[in-house]
Amino acid sequence: MNLCVTALLFYMFQLIHGQPDYLGFISIDCGIEVNSTYQDSVSNMIYVSDYSFVTTGENHGISSDYVKPSLVKRYLNLRFFPHGARNCYTLRSLVMGNKYLVRAAFYYGNYDGLGKPPVFDLYLGTNYWHEVSLSDAGAFNWMDIIVVAPDDYLQVCLVNKGMGNPFISGLDLRPMKNTLYPEVNATQSLVLVNSNRFHMGPTDGSVIRYPSDSHDRIWTTYNAIPNCIQISATSVIQNNLRDVYDVPSSVMQNAVTANSSRIDFSWNPSDPSVNISSKYFFIFYFAELQTVGSNAVRQFDIIINSKTWNKQPYTPTFQVTDYFSGILHGMENYSVSLVATKNATLPPILNAMEMYLVKPITAVATDPGDARAMMAIQDDFGVIKNWMGDPCIPKASIWRGLNCSYPPVGASKITALNLSSFGLVGAISTNFRDLQALQYLDLSHNNLSGPIPNFLGQLSSLMFLDLSSNDLSGPIPYSLLQRSQNGSLSLRVGDNVNLCGNGTACRSDRKKINGTLLTAIVVPIAAAIALFVILFLLCQVLKGKAKRNATGHEDESALLENREFSYKELKHITNNFSQQIGKGGFGPVFLGYLENGKSVAVKVRSESSSQGGKEFLAEAQHLTRIHHKNLVSLVGYCKDRNHLALVYEYMPEGNLQDHLRATSTSKPLSWEQRLQIALDAAQVLSICTSPVSQH
Ligand SMILES: *[C@@H]1O[C@H](CO)[C@@H](O)[C@H](O)[C@H]1NC(C)=O
Ligand SMILES: *[C@@H]1O[C@H](CO)[C@@H](O)[C@H](O)[C@H]1NC(C)=O
Ligand SMILES: *[C@@H]1O[C@H](CO)[C@@H](O)[C@H](O)[C@H]1NC(C)=O
Ligand SMILES: *[C@@H]1O[C@H](CO)[C@@H](O)[C@H](O)[C@H]1NC(C)=O
Ligand SMILES: *[C@@H]1O[C@H](CO)[C@@H](O)[C@H](O)[C@H]1NC(C)=O
Ligand SMILES: *[C@@H]1O[C@H](CO)[C@@H](O)[C@H](O)[C@H]1NC(C)=O
Ligand SMILES: *[C@@H]1O[C@H](CO)[C@@H](O)[C@H](O)[C@H]1NC(C)=O
Ligand SMILES: *[C@@H]1O[C@H](CO)[C@@H](O)[C@H](O)[C@H]1NC(C)=O
Ligand SMILES: *[C@@H]1O[C@H](CO)[C@@H](O)[C@H](O)[C@H]1NC(C)=O
Ligand SMILES: *[C@@H]1O[C@H](CO)[C@@H](O)[C@H](O)[C@H]1NC(C)=O
Ligand SMILES: *[C@@H]1O[C@H](CO)[C@@H](O)[C@H](O)[C@H]1NC(C)=O
Repeated sequence: MNLCVTALLFYMFQLIHGQPDYLGFISIDCGIEVNSTYQDSVSNMIYVSDYSFVTTGENHGISSDYVKPSLVKRYLNLRFFPHGARNCYTLRSLVMGNKYLVRAAFYYGNYDGLGKPPVFDLYLGTNYWHEVSLSDAGAFNWMDIIVVAPDDYLQVCLVNKGMGNPFISGLDLRPMKNTLYPEVNATQSLVLVNSNRFHMGPTDGSVIRYPSDSHDRIWTTYNAIPNCIQISATSVIQNNLRDVYDVPSSVMQNAVTANSSRIDFSWNPSDPSVNISSKYFFIFYFAELQTVGSNAVRQFDIIINSKTWNKQPYTPTFQVTDYFSGILHGMENYSVSLVATKNATLPPILNAMEMYLVKPITAVATDPGDARAMMAIQDDFGVIKNWMGDPCIPKASIWRGLNCSYPPVGASKITALNLSSFGLVGAISTNFRDLQALQYLDLSHNNLSGPIPNFLGQLSSLMFLDLSSNDLSGPIPYSLLQRSQNGSLSLRVGDNVNLCGNGTACRSDRKKINGTLLTAIVVPIAAAIALFVILFLLCQVLKGKAKRNATGHEDESALLENREFSYKELKHITNNFSQQIGKGGFGPVFLGYLENGKSVAVKVRSESSSQGGKEFLAEAQHLTRIHHKNLVSLVGYCKDRNHLALVYEYMPEGNLQDHLRATSTSKPLSWEQRLQIALDAAQVLSICTSPVSQH
């Protein structure tokens, strides 16, 4: 019991967040209240609102004239799209390369009072699925498509073609085993329209679907076979096709047979879009349901439009499912005949059938990496605009702010992104990192805050970067400055008051320290530090003068102040961390050499260290402000994803160990650390005033 409740809670939790449920199903009732869910009394499936799958459109209930007691809840509401040529639903958390059945359902019900259902197109991603055209205001329609997911998401797009606002009542996703419907592959899909999936049960409108059909295919009754006799069985019909078509026993337990030696019917797909160049894929299912006496023979031929599909006279197997399938050219009308052979003593039999339109899946879409990055950026900043469906394709529906490449061969890539004045708030998204073909990035006039991430300097195609008029803070990454200085990147960072590093010195963020108690402790210490620093500088000037006079050598360390290293750079500097020279409180220390040949000690935060990134950087900031070339001075730091490291000037002998110990045990922004800094400053003074042993 408890387990059930837990399972149900898990189920609901998953659904509410727009994820497939534990069966991998997504069942959306479009147009119901935001975040609401309900359980369908017949199928027991949980239907969810479309809130987390679509960002556009409006909810509406159908006209009360079209509300009937027999109407399932799903058809009472719909979502319609009065704005934009293309509006899309996104089904996420799929497995790339797996097979899925997607079903869209439509019931107009005169929701808009116009009395005339619209006509519009349905797309799966960039691939045309089918036209949606309802015969009258009270008509239902649903259509399936079985596809291989080209990515970990699928998008269902409704495209306005000037014949009324597109709308949708329901959207389902059902995973299929990859062996099912082998005709479906990366370049080919199967589309089912006009309910062309039939069982031969009683014509009282009974529908077979989940849970009888574990894939929730919808099987409706077929009543267009003249002079047929219905037969049924109660025993389980064995399924030898589990890996191919997996027809449920309940579908196979009913069949039609005839009073004569043949079953003849005409099958009319009633699809105006179909012509001779269209292709139909049909499957007929057979199983013997009656105990056939030793002298009785059921044997027949399967003939469609005068072509016999069976090579030998066909005899269905007792209580075992079998099938015939094939491809037909598109026609208005097919004549199907099952004709008993001369030797037969029993009439033919038919249990079920399916008719699919074969649709090619073209690979034309935005590069999957770029498309995924754009969707993630959209999530990060909550951009709506017309950001739906594929970012670059079709060209007419390109996402606002994007420019794409359209190469004759291969996928489109995003080359320019102008999100200027898009109202972006928060940190610069790490997802920009994945747009490898990006040449122009304009993020100006937004409310972006936090540091400028290092990875922007690693976007190899980037030629233009505008970050101006935001609230960015901290240093400008060295890689960007370098590229800006050598002319390979046009960089604009103006109007970010807290930025530093291009002429202005970087200060640690003092705003973090709050509270009167803290201030009471910090202010006197700060004053003490200031005093020490003044003394130290004085001492420095005196000593420096003497030294320069002696060597004529300028102190270069100030030029390197606050340099930000990428992890890759560190790897290079330390020759892949090959020489460990010590161990600090929070990780190992490696020897390295800078481009100018200077030796450095690279102190890397180990995985197990409890010290966080913020603290680590704060320590770096504090240390840079009290450095001196005769002491261990900080050259820079690395904060590249999870990699944190401090880079010190390396002193081959002497006080390196002391300093590593001193800096590693102190808690940043704490009283102890401030004390430590004061002590460091004191040490500076003492060394300064006493004879120096090194150099
Ligand atoms: C719907 O759910 C999401 C996430 O669960 C939540 O952020 C949002 O505020 C909810 N919306 C409403 C209207 O309840
Ligand atoms: C998909 O199936 C069709 C028809 O069987 C075939 O022509 C095509 O090459 C297949 N595509 C792939 C990617 O296997
Ligand atoms: C079957 O044929 C017999 C004799 O021709 C007839 O009496 C009977 O009504 C037929 N049954 C059906 C269902 O057509
Ligand atoms: C068949 O229909 C398709 C679209 O459904 C169309 O592109 C094609 O031109 C049509 N072909 C003929 C011969 O009518
Ligand atoms: C379909 O074919 C049957 C038999 O050939 C014929 O009676 C029927 O009128 C045809 N229907 C259409 C719509 O062409
Ligand atoms: C019909 O039955 C005869 C005699 O049993 C057999 O020789 C013949 O091969 C059968 N024909 C078919 C088509 O099965
Ligand atoms: C994007 O393309 C448009 C139209 O071709 C062009 O006017 C614009 O300058 C491009 N933007 C960037 C940033 O390249
Ligand atoms: C980006 O768009 C803004 C206006 O929306 C325009 O002023 C600016 O020049 C564009 N940037 C680029 C690089 O095209
Ligand atoms: C952006 O920042 C400014 C100043 O901090 C503030 O007034 C404004 O409301 C912010 N805009 C948004 C969309 O957050
Ligand atoms: C500019 O500097 C960057 C980073 O060091 C380098 O990758 C690029 O090749 C340089 N470009 C030119 C034109 O010197
Ligand atoms: C850095 O400062 C120099 C000199 O003030 C200026 O010319 C340059 O444009 C600045 N670079 C950036 C990226 O702001």
